[in-house]
Amino acid sequence: MDIQHLHATALRLLTPSKGILAADESNHTCNARFAAYGIPETEENRRAYRQMLFTTPGIEKYITGVILYDETIRQKTNPMTRTKGDTGMFFREYLIQKGILSGIKVDAGLVDMPGFPGETITQGLDGLPARLEEYKSMGASFAKWRAAFKIGANTPSEEVIRENAKILGRYAKACQDEGLVPIVEPEVLLDGVHSIEKSKMVTTQVLKILFEELPKYFVELPGLILKTSMVISGKDAMVRADAKTVARFTVEVLKTCVPDQIAGVVFLSGGQSPDEATKNFDEIAKLEPLPWPLAFSFSRALQNDALEIWAGKDENIHDAQKAFLGRLQENSLADQGL
Ligand code: 13P
Repeated sequence: MDIQHLHATALRLLTPSKGILAADESNHTCNARFAAYGIPETEENRRAYRQMLFTTPGIEKYITGVILYDETIRQKTNPMTRTKGDTGMFFREYLIQKGILSGIKVDAGLVDMPGFPGETITQGLDGLPARLEEYKSMGASFAKWRAAFKIGANTPSEEVIRENAKILGRYAKACQDEGLVPIVEPEVLLDGVHSIEKSKMVTTQVLKILFEELPKYFVELPGLILKTSMVISGKDAMVRADAKTVARFTVEVLKTCVPDQIAGVVFLSGGQSPDEATKNFDEIAKLEPLPWPLAFSFSRALQNDALEIWAGKDENIHDAQKAFLGRLQENSLADQGL
């Protein structure tokens, strides 16, 4: 493992005022988002949609990396407009030409944890080293693995938090051995009626256990990025805390639980509206300097408007790209605490 190389790659991903686009929705998730707008759920539409995002002029000013899905890392730009003999360019090659690094989601999704109703474990360790080797050979620089924790009356349990943390440790070590920067994503879900205090308690427990487990698997912290949810009231809570409180609670939790040595912290949007995610991120960034660089790494909060405008139609590409670029710009300003 070349820890200096990993650290340098992680710092490049965390370049000030830039973020990482999460475009790693599984086919199932991408199809569900298409279905909401009546977009036919085909491989070509998934490809065309990602092409619309990646070819938006100027995105390289606002993002350092894109997290891809297995199908997407194998897809190419523009098969429709290719002339004979032109085999097109892989998205991963297209992005690197723009100075944007490719990452890859390598977990295989959530499954119910037997004996723990309402809780999930993330699968995908089987065959992981071979898959990482292939992604590395394709030019990937980093990877992502997501665990999810739902807040309920008796969940998440310490056992399931720890089991997921151990798996994240094994994943992260395998990535580092392959020269890929692991993004470690333990998401505390927004769904529910819980208070922000409850979110703070659960997020604290999740992050504490995560950073207890990672060193046991020989993970090198300077070559790792944490992707976390913000500490926030449940989506259906009677009273929802404002952005300043979200920022204060989030930073308190991070300072308590996250070792100074990690390369940085990025945030997921988790089903917040685009405006809410950006406002909260902005308030968090106003509390810098912190021991680590921060960045946004949203999927829905960056893509939702663009997807709705695009709606699967070529004639909407220009307007959709404009909306997408607008969201990137807003989050870049937020990153600067402006
Ligand atoms: P959201 O920003 O939509 O939560 O997605 C981020 C992500 O990477 C989910 O795994």
